[in-house]
Amino acid sequence: FPVPFAGPGGGGNPPGSASVDYIGNNAPSRRASLASLCDFQVTNLRHGGAGGNGGKVMGKALEEAAVEAFGVEFWDILSRGISLLWEPEVQTENMVVAASRLFAFGVRIQHLEQIGDAIGQSFKAALACPCNECGLHEWTDDQSEAWSWCWEVLSADIAKTIRAQELRHVQLVRDSWEAVKASKSSVDLGDLFYTDLQEEAPQVIHLFQRPRKMQAYLFIQAMELIVRFGEDPASFFDELKPLVIRHIKYGVRSQYMKPFGIVLMRTMEHVLGPLWTTDVSAAWKSLWTRCSCVVSRSLNVGTNLITVSIVNGDLCQLRRAVACAPRCDRAKWIVQVQVNGSVLSPLYWAVRDCKYAMARFMLRDLLTIRADREEYYYGAHLLFESHPDLVSALCRESPQLVSTLFDGLMWHSQAVEKGKVRVNYYIGELYGAPEGDPWASPLAVFCAEGKPWMFDHPVLDKVLQLKWGRLKLLFFAEQTVFALILVLFMVGFVDGASELTCSQHTVNLRRAVASMSGIVLLVMLVLMHVQIRSGQCVRIQPLPKLPSISFVTPRLLANKWNTSRFIACVLIIIAALSGHCNQGTSRSDQGSTWNMHVEAWAGLLLWIQFSQILVTSTRLSALIYTVGILLSDVVRLLLVILILLVAFAAYLTCLSNEGFGEFGQSILSLVRVSIEVSKPDLIEVGGWSLFMLLFFCHLHPGRNAQHPRRPAQPVVRDYVARQDGVRQDEQGVRRGRN
Ligand code: HEM
Repeated sequence: FPVPFAGPGGGGNPPGSASVDYIGNNAPSRRASLASLCDFQVTNLRHGGAGGNGGKVMGKALEEAAVEAFGVEFWDILSRGISLLWEPEVQTENMVVAASRLFAFGVRIQHLEQIGDAIGQSFKAALACPCNECGLHEWTDDQSEAWSWCWEVLSADIAKTIRAQELRHVQLVRDSWEAVKASKSSVDLGDLFYTDLQEEAPQVIHLFQRPRKMQAYLFIQAMELIVRFGEDPASFFDELKPLVIRHIKYGVRSQYMKPFGIVLMRTMEHVLGPLWTTDVSAAWKSLWTRCSCVVSRSLNVGTNLITVSIVNGDLCQLRRAVACAPRCDRAKWIVQVQVNGSVLSPLYWAVRDCKYAMARFMLRDLLTIRADREEYYYGAHLLFESHPDLVSALCRESPQLVSTLFDGLMWHSQAVEKGKVRVNYYIGELYGAPEGDPWASPLAVFCAEGKPWMFDHPVLDKVLQLKWGRLKLLFFAEQTVFALILVLFMVGFVDGASELTCSQHTVNLRRAVASMSGIVLLVMLVLMHVQIRSGQCVRIQPLPKLPSISFVTPRLLANKWNTSRFIACVLIIIAALSGHCNQGTSRSDQGSTWNMHVEAWAGLLLWIQFSQILVTSTRLSALIYTVGILLSDVVRLLLVILILLVAFAAYLTCLSNEGFGEFGQSILSLVRVSIEVSKPDLIEVGGWSLFMLLFFCHLHPGRNAQHPRRPAQPVVRDYVARQDGVRQDEQGVRRGRN
């Protein structure tokens, strides 16, 4: 293999690789010279009688723009072809796609040799004249030979495609495929194919296990893709990588291609009958040969001992496969398989196919510390580097593997020294890079998607301790500021609320709280601005069942504690600015209800956010967590109660009983009845209303949740007791009268 053609992407060019340097140097002047030489050759081709359509297109190509386009096309083909000499599969893909374009330019098989000569001459001509830029000005025999070899390789792939186009194979295949689809339903076609495949290659039929209709549908999809290979190779190759990866996962091997192709041809022949002419047969065979070669090569590259063992679900085979790897490459074998240039992770594959024992083995193997004479080997870094979303994937798809991961991230000595064991933690990746986005660090992902038990593991505990050690000062500083605001608020607003007139002292305190809140608010706004500019925003879905209702907010406000602080600061400033308390004025003179509400809410929110300080104790933070969950239940309960309240209040208001004259009054009465505080007088309430009250008291979930076993008819009891009382009174009156 001629070394000079290592190509621009092939790790540098050794001295003398003149032609490669010539191509690699994308100077416009050189491109133009190549174009003009192609132009020269094209002119010759035309005069030499390229014939038919080709001749006409060549004629057009003489126009300046077309000549330039033609030159650029060749420039691209050569650049790519040479740089991909070490990757023949990808090179073939490129040449097949390029050949379709060349055919459109009018290039035919007989031109290829001349074009090769023309390009060779162009190299020679360009290198023969001194080149000040690159210092290369010679065209040796070796280079000439190497170029001939290179063009042979490239033109062989190009020729296959052009030949198929020349023979109108694409049209023949498309027409016959349409005829097949018109004559048989997809299910019948599928039946025909799979029955024949079972006889021809019983060893592959286990791969096709889906229901008949689905199987038939997939067969049609496969056929459409094969037909597309001839028509639009670029779009076929776009789909090739994922297709090959799926086929490796189905367990398809390249050797299955042959029986598959034989059965395919037989099916077509069977369905087409007399329409299966020699030309049609040749067209299909040529298409299948080219297409299956491409797929087979990719399958071969992607299939190795590890992928085969995962497909078979065989843990012992996987162990043996991994044992074959050289120690220095062992981790790489486990974390990635190259398929046609794209990388597949065997670990994710095992996780997604629920092959947890295999995934556990891979994790353990990766996170085992090994050594040889040269080095220590440990796969943690490679694991996180090649699986940036590892934590999220494990939390979502296989939380049971998280402890295996954690176990692998710590090492402990077997020796006990003074009752202690030495432990090393390898938690750099979990901790997260300081310059990276902290919200995307594995620890943050654990907080968002992990399970509570994961935080019990010493590894995560260690990471948290480290973070806490670094961030606690900031946390306490933040809490101190808000504690100060809270204290001042309590004295200035809450304590001052009892004063009949606002003293100077109170007014000053209020101003101080408002100023502090203003500063905090400003800092928060600046932070939010920075986050918005740097894209640190998150999408919030207040109703998880309705994902369409969502909004984007800076990270700062995504935290509930911060939201509560933000709102509290705004409310404090509003309360202070609204002039509710000016010196010497009476509160009742200036006060208005909404003002008082603003103050009340600010106080409530300040106290709620202050409870965050309790997270310094694990037990208390667990309690807060539980209360948080409870709160969401309470909110749901209140919502149901509210709807019931409104419904029954509407009903009772329409009947206009005493205590239920207006809608607002009805709601109030119902609340009083249900919480048994200052209940309205129900003596005058009519039968229907009473029935509804009874119904409400039974229904309303708050009461039942609090006293599940209690007979919930205090209203009735009261009513009966009162009626008894009334009756007794009436009897007493009657007795008195008597
Ligand atoms: C040129 C060759 C081939 C092409 C273009 C091709 C294309 C396709 C396409 C488009 C599908 C639809 C599902 C998907 O996209 O994953 C499919 C499915 C499938 N193919 Fe292929 N295929 C080829 C060769 C083969 C061979 C040789 C075998 C094995 C004998 C095979 C086995 C399968 C299996 C097992 C499925 C999934 C069907 C199922 O789960 O029931 N394919 N193929």
